[in-house]
Amino acid sequence: MYYIGIDLGTSAVKLLLMDESGTIHRTVSREYPLEFPQPGWSQQNPEDWWAAVREGLSALTAHCDRSRIAGIGVGGQMHGLVILDKDDRVIRPAILWNDGRTARQVDYLNNTIGRETLSRYTGNIAFAGFTAPKLLWLREHEPENFARIAKIMLPKDYVNYMLTGKHTTDVSDASGTLLLDVRARRWSPEMLEICGVRPEQMPQLYESYAPVGALRPAIARMLDFPETVQVCAGAGDNAAAAVGTGVVGEGGCNLSIGTSGTVFISSREFRVDGHNALHAFAHADGGYHLMGCMLSAAACNKWLMEDIFHTTDYAGEQAQIAPEKLGHNHVFFLPYLMGERSPINDTNARGTFVGMTMDTTRSDLTQAVLEGVAFAIRDSFQVAEALGLQPRSTRICGGGAKSPLWRRIFANVLNMDLESVVTEQGPGYGGGILAMVACGAYPSVEDACRRLTAVREVTHPEPALAALYAQRYRQFREIYPACKDLFAVLGNG
Ligand code: XUL
Repeated sequence: MYYIGIDLGTSAVKLLLMDESGTIHRTVSREYPLEFPQPGWSQQNPEDWWAAVREGLSALTAHCDRSRIAGIGVGGQMHGLVILDKDDRVIRPAILWNDGRTARQVDYLNNTIGRETLSRYTGNIAFAGFTAPKLLWLREHEPENFARIAKIMLPKDYVNYMLTGKHTTDVSDASGTLLLDVRARRWSPEMLEICGVRPEQMPQLYESYAPVGALRPAIARMLDFPETVQVCAGAGDNAAAAVGTGVVGEGGCNLSIGTSGTVFISSREFRVDGHNALHAFAHADGGYHLMGCMLSAAACNKWLMEDIFHTTDYAGEQAQIAPEKLGHNHVFFLPYLMGERSPINDTNARGTFVGMTMDTTRSDLTQAVLEGVAFAIRDSFQVAEALGLQPRSTRICGGGAKSPLWRRIFANVLNMDLESVVTEQGPGYGGGILAMVACGAYPSVEDACRRLTAVREVTHPEPALAALYAQRYRQFREIYPACKDLFAVLGNG
């Protein structure tokens, strides 16, 4: 049978067609626009996602025997606030995970309601991208839209709604709303009240691998798919990516270098970081995970290459970086182009080059961006280390993981083995696996991952280079504290 995995990303949706053996038969992708209506704000139109998914599903299956399609699983960009009215129409563009407009609401939640209270209710504190502060923002700034809300959902839930007609979500994605009691895997009545939300406005909660319904007959006809195709609840893209790289059960680690950059540590038991710098979320395998998320990872490199250097030849630019320059770059880059989430939680932080001289070259800047992202990822590992979690190796996926030079920089900055997997489709592959479990092709997510994911190549750190990068990292750590107050002045001016 065939299973379709969908990765509903920020710049595009990627779809893949696979079978029970894990063989991928075809992949397609469709892009959609991203709006930045004000600096640090970020929105997308859910109808654009659906149009891209619909077109993508037709193109993906154009040459296969559609009667053999059994299931669909979506992994989606997390935290985006999607609101529907009583007729299930989208009320306004979705406010995305990397939107920084809610600094005041985050401050209210963390300091007036209080971090300890939030952590007791949800296992987490507020960050600007999370869904709860967006609801508070909407109530204050667009009360007429707030009053029209009949259903609140997350980006991939809108796609699942269009496919099945059901208002659902899954525990991994729901964790990022700050409305979920993560440990108990149920909505927090206290948080709903704080945000002025009624329980019936929330979608029904499922485990990620649970089937939520079959295709609506009209959609099945339109796509020429069997009406029996099951859609599973799906997952947040990071949990789906972890499933796709086989990071399930106790103590696995996955690094995802996409638009955002995330460190994902899986566990069977619920665990919380005492300072809440890492998110304590439910995993798509029935367990939990801790996660650090930087808002702009591969996005920084894309910005430098495409918007500043006006090139798409990423490999050509990286080839200009002399190997002996690694560990010796005098230029540093703070990768905070959209502010930053983990661990500094600062919407005012900005992208910053430091240390340029008259002999600084174009390739020094490229290198500084690649290194700055790796240093910022190390910041999340430092928090994990303080909790006694010291993974010695990590799986790696996402667009940024395709560059051998960037992998080498990551391996040495983090001083750990990086394992690239055979199938690098991350969230899409994870979505396909969740669909297979929902359809009964495998008894559990862990079992499916054991059979369907394997390591292809390991990038090892080199002791001398790792030592040089340890020194550079110490210098990098000095830069943000020195700029923090200035960022606040500039951000509020
Ligand atoms: C995770 C997060 C991002 C998005 C990217 O908390 O905000 O990784 O899920 O799509």
